[in-house]
Amino acid sequence: MDKKQMKEIKQRMRRPIVMIGLMGAGKTRIGMALAKALEIPFYDSDHEIEDAAGMDIPTIFERFGETYFRDGERRVLQRLLDQGLCVVATGGGAVMNAQTAEIIWTRSVCVWLRADLATLVKRTSRTDHRPLLKQGDPGEILGNLIEARYPTYEKADIVVDSFDGPVNELVDDVLEKLHAYLTKHG
Ligand code: S3P
Repeated sequence: MDKKQMKEIKQRMRRPIVMIGLMGAGKTRIGMALAKALEIPFYDSDHEIEDAAGMDIPTIFERFGETYFRDGERRVLQRLLDQGLCVVATGGGAVMNAQTAEIIWTRSVCVWLRADLATLVKRTSRTDHRPLLKQGDPGEILGNLIEARYPTYEKADIVVDSFDGPVNELVDDVLEKLHAYLTKHG
C-alpha cells in the first residue's frame, strides 16, 4: 500500500469499519493493526460488553444466557458506530442477530475475515474463553457454524482470506480491498 493510496482511503472514509468472521478468524488482531495503520480508534465489542456488564463473557452466558448477551452486543455496536470513524471487531455471532446485522450493514463498511476450518480450530484451541466451543467438539461446532453463518457473512462489503501469515500482510490485503471499495462506492 503506497502513501497515495493510503491518503485516498483516509479522504474517502465516511463510515466506521466493522470486522466480522468466525471465532479465530483474527478480527481483533487484524482490526487492531488496521486501526493503527489508519490512525483511528479500535474497539473490541466483546471487551466493551464485558466492561458494560462488569463480568466476562463466559459468566454472562452462564448467568443470563445467549439472548441477554446478544441484546448487549446490539446496544454496544449501536453506541460504537455512533462515535465516528473507528475499527470495531465484533464477536462471531453479531451479524446473526437481525437487528445487529441491520446496524452493521447500513452504518459501516463491513469486512469479513474468511478462514478455513483447520485454521479456525488451530487458532481457537489456544484459548479457553469461548462458551460456544465448550458445548462439544470444537471442530464439529466450528464446522456447523461455517455452514450456518458463511451465507450471511457473504453479505459483507469486503471479503479477505485470513491465512496464517504476518499481520501486516493481512492488513495490506484489507487496505487494498478497502481502497478498491471506496474508489467504487465512495
Ligand atoms: C461468539 C463469538 C465470541 C463471543 C461469544 C460468542 C459467537 O467472539 O462474542 O463467545 O457467537 O461466535 P469472538 O468471535 O471474538 O471469539
